[in-house]
Amino acid sequence: MAETTMDKIVSLCKRRGFIFQSSEIYGGLSGAWDYGPLGVQLKNNIRDFWWKEMTQMHDNIVGLDASILMHPKVWEASGHVSNFTDPMVDCKQCKSRFRADQIDLTAACPHCGTKDSFTEPRNFNLMFSTHIGAVRDEGSIVYLRPETAQGIYLDFKNVVQSSRVKIPFGIAQVGKAFRNEITTKNFIFRSCEFEQMEMQYFVKPGSDEEWFSFWRDQRMEFYHKMGINPSSLRWHRHGPDELAFYAKDAYDIQYLFPMGWQELEGVHNRTDYDLTQHQEFSGKDLSYVEQETNERYIPYVVETSAGLTRNVLMALSDAYEEETLEGGDVRTVLHFHPAIAPITVAILPLVKKDGISELSQKLERELREDFATFYDQGGAIGRRYRRMDEVGTPYCVTVDYQTLDDQTVTLRFRDSMEQVRVKLDDLVARIRLETKQYKRKEG
Ligand code: GAP
Repeated sequence: MAETTMDKIVSLCKRRGFIFQSSEIYGGLSGAWDYGPLGVQLKNNIRDFWWKEMTQMHDNIVGLDASILMHPKVWEASGHVSNFTDPMVDCKQCKSRFRADQIDLTAACPHCGTKDSFTEPRNFNLMFSTHIGAVRDEGSIVYLRPETAQGIYLDFKNVVQSSRVKIPFGIAQVGKAFRNEITTKNFIFRSCEFEQMEMQYFVKPGSDEEWFSFWRDQRMEFYHKMGINPSSLRWHRHGPDELAFYAKDAYDIQYLFPMGWQELEGVHNRTDYDLTQHQEFSGKDLSYVEQETNERYIPYVVETSAGLTRNVLMALSDAYEEETLEGGDVRTVLHFHPAIAPITVAILPLVKKDGISELSQKLERELREDFATFYDQGGAIGRRYRRMDEVGTPYCVTVDYQTLDDQTVTLRFRDSMEQVRVKLDDLVARIRLETKQYKRKEG
């Protein structure tokens, strides 16, 4: 099987409208990306798949959409102002900046080739700051959030008082986060503006280890449900030198990206660190009282933190295949799970005449009610199938002369390329069933 490289994915994403470089006509802005027509649909579908899994499928998880800008004290309390740093070195010759932990400091500068040109490593804060209001002084600084989690901690009390939730319970949030990353290579893997899907699960101190294990199982299961190849997923437990400043214990779910095994999601035991810090800095009581026992405590937090935009890259990498067909032809196909595919069903009239186009358009309008559809009547049918394979459309429906006689259409499956005849009346139910029972192709 042909190797999946990052170059092939980047090229497909640009060619088919998944992802474009930000500000491309001005030469681009590194670390920033635009999601095109198919990319935004894929991203939204992954987001919705996560949201349903976390909020709808658990009766004790509620949602939140907190603001990106927060009181600047939040980031002092959380520890991000003093601790959210990467060690950096500059090349004295060409002024390029590198992560000190990602290059060999005894080697020549990778950019200009000068030897012994690096400055001493210095800690560089990853938060972007800006000013709020008319006056640009120390007192008007606000930060673009580097993680969505803090908004959840700030609203912990509001949610408890307004939602009748009882510990253990979770708050889920999806949204933008910003980090001034110095190394932004590997396409959308590490960008300065990205999206996170985070859930903070508030538990009684002492039960945290048990919930930490529960959520690790749940999160791995989620990726299996999303149709991701299980052999490309693994756990990595953080060693003492890798742990974030807020974590007692942490495991990453890693995915085998084209550039190797890399973090996809973190599951963290954040203890009572964040709520305690915010209680201290705000002077507001953030403790929880158990109704039955009257016991008062600051809850512990188990966090599941996934990158949404990184999930998009993972889904693309996992789905991509250049398949050699009988006869030697190669087709490029994205094997997306139907639940996340940007287009679910393509409607393709075999010919444009004798009322077949009109019938196909009518069918497309009906299917729209239930699925993301696409209508294409241009070119040879084989070429139209290939175009749909390349953007990962799991089902193609072809309308032909037989349809006029017996009210049946051809339903073609992307992965196997098999075709079956289905009655028009049964089509919606059949596609729903196929989606529910979808199993990823072995390999
Ligand atoms: N609230 C905890 C937290 O933010 P993290 O390990 O720093 O933990 C969680 O980030 C996830 O967010 C990562 O596993 C990754 O998927 C995503 N992520 C972090 N930085 C990113 C970046 N610069 N670009 C894209 N995704 C990023």
